[in-house]
Amino acid sequence: MSQRRRIAAGNWKMNGSTAALAEFDALAARHPDPRVDILICPPATLLSPATRRMDGHNILIGGQDCHCAPSGAHTGDISAPMIADTGATAVILGHSERREDHGETSEQVRDKARAAHVAGLTALICMGESEDQRDADNTLDIIGGQMAASIPDDCNAENTVIAYEPIWAIGTGHVPTLGQITEVHDFIRARLIRRFGETAGNAIAILYGGSVKPSNASDIFTVANVDGALVGGASLKADDFSPIISALEGSF
Ligand code: PGA
Repeated sequence: MSQRRRIAAGNWKMNGSTAALAEFDALAARHPDPRVDILICPPATLLSPATRRMDGHNILIGGQDCHCAPSGAHTGDISAPMIADTGATAVILGHSERREDHGETSEQVRDKARAAHVAGLTALICMGESEDQRDADNTLDIIGGQMAASIPDDCNAENTVIAYEPIWAIGTGHVPTLGQITEVHDFIRARLIRRFGETAGNAIAILYGGSVKPSNASDIFTVANVDGALVGGASLKADDFSPIISALEGSF
């Protein structure tokens, strides 16, 4: 279990211009030899400059979405091979903002994940319940359904990372209790083992996301099946993201 990947992932969403690349330099300087994977997913416009800038540093770069086709008449979209061509090695898929703003279904997320795998990218597949779904006590049903439909059969610990992100915790400052995080992460782990077998199911990393901050990261990382974090707002500045990385490094 301790051999699972530990990942501090930053999701910049629709934030950042070239000036923000200085944050990469600051992180690289503070974490020259990290004990965990540091992954930053800037907007598509910054993928190439970010990978060039981080060449020779231990910081991984990823996209925030991809199309399920490798190329074609899809104005405004980018494909998994295009992301790989920038030197990026991962892509976030099925983030709740994509599911909500763009009507992405779990089946589309699964097809995108397959495309990511074919292109050699790690698919960071997101899932999470809404506040109404949690209040109605449907959280585990929702997560189970999203897992069944969004995770492709070819998934393994090298090409896939799962992120549990309760929608009501994203950007709100409302973090689930450690008990709530434990319940969902244990459930995801059990489902991964049931579907992919003991070895593979135990090896796939599961990240928590939603209002992770320097002040709460250490507590969240005490949860057994939390293998890291997917961080939005607090990943934009090295001053905020660096202590979260350090908390993860200190958690095992
Ligand atoms: P947040 O976003 O850390 O700003 O809550 C997390 C995410 O959406 O990945």
